[in-house]
Amino acid sequence: MNTPLKKPKDFLKPLTLGTLSLPINIAYAPLAGCSDYPFRKMSNIYRPALFFCEMVKIDALVRNDKNTFRMLDYSHDMHPLGAQLCGSNPKIVGKAAKIIEELGFDVVDLNCGCPVDKVTKDGSGSGLLKTLPLIGELLSNIKAAVKIPITVKIRVGWDAEHIVADQVTRIAEEAGASAIFIHGRTREQAYRGEVDYSPIRQAVQAKKNILVFGNGDIFDSESAYRMFTETGADGILVARGTMGAPWIYEHIFRSFQEETTPPLDPLLLRETFLTHLSFIKEYQNKERAQIDLRKIGSWYLRDKPETKSLREQLGRLRSLEEMEELLHASLCL
Ligand SMILES: Cc1cc2nc3c(=O)[nH]c(=O)nc-3n(C[C@H](O)[C@H](O)[C@H](O)COP(=O)(O)O)c2cc1C
Repeated sequence: MNTPLKKPKDFLKPLTLGTLSLPINIAYAPLAGCSDYPFRKMSNIYRPALFFCEMVKIDALVRNDKNTFRMLDYSHDMHPLGAQLCGSNPKIVGKAAKIIEELGFDVVDLNCGCPVDKVTKDGSGSGLLKTLPLIGELLSNIKAAVKIPITVKIRVGWDAEHIVADQVTRIAEEAGASAIFIHGRTREQAYRGEVDYSPIRQAVQAKKNILVFGNGDIFDSESAYRMFTETGADGILVARGTMGAPWIYEHIFRSFQEETTPPLDPLLLRETFLTHLSFIKEYQNKERAQIDLRKIGSWYLRDKPETKSLREQLGRLRSLEEMEELLHASLCL
């Protein structure tokens, strides 16, 4: 007899992450260059279970680099919030984690997924997937240094010949991590091809206590449901799907509960874009705000034929005032 398919709402559940209770199992990922303070302020309106700052380098943190600390800015209502460490030096990783704990973060994560050459060349990011015992050592040193829950975020392996998601899951569990976030692609794949659910499923089968979050290509409720059904993961982690759609958690939650996909209110897009812009203006200087406005404009206005000309006009304008005027006057948002 076939087991009946689980309904979407049956996948929604609270989780316990070490000492932290998460009311639900849908989280937002760290996004370098994107999940900055204004971005997280937007995310926080929709209250995903957990969200993250951009990754920070452990050596920059321990040497008190001012810009690195600024990347960790948050406000008192932004919780539960995670910080992600990037590095491979076991001698300083505990110190870096302690700084994160003292700053008041709820979770500290170790990046084992970043594919960028600049990061992997010293063995950090997804470079760590080639030295699995070092992942265990780094996590153990973090565990010895802090009381807050520890997580680790990985790709499924360096390349298709070296899939290690299940091994890293066990190593992380033994080192005392509370959760592992698994992006279903290898480092070699970068963002090409479709996300592969099978290594995530194998990690779920290999684990005992650690929570497994599936990550990759979750852009709507259908892909969220697919991640749950194909992998049996405890939770899901949304990354690019949050860019220009800070409401995506609420959208997935409602779609799962109501078993229909609620239509997107066109006014929501307009209001959200303008609110995000106001948060950027509060936080960044004028020059930076202009750059960031173009960036978020490309998210909020993407994939829509009716916003093509607005996108192009925005790209041509040079001053923030002109850009804002155009946005407010535009009816096609
Ligand atoms: C612009 C960008 C920045 C990213 N920055 C980080 C990062 O700082 N730390 C990290 O672990 N992953 C980072 N990632 C990877 C994502 O968190 C996520 O694992 C990946 O995009 C797959 O999920 P998605 O298909 O939902 O986007 C980044 C991805 C993108 C596109």
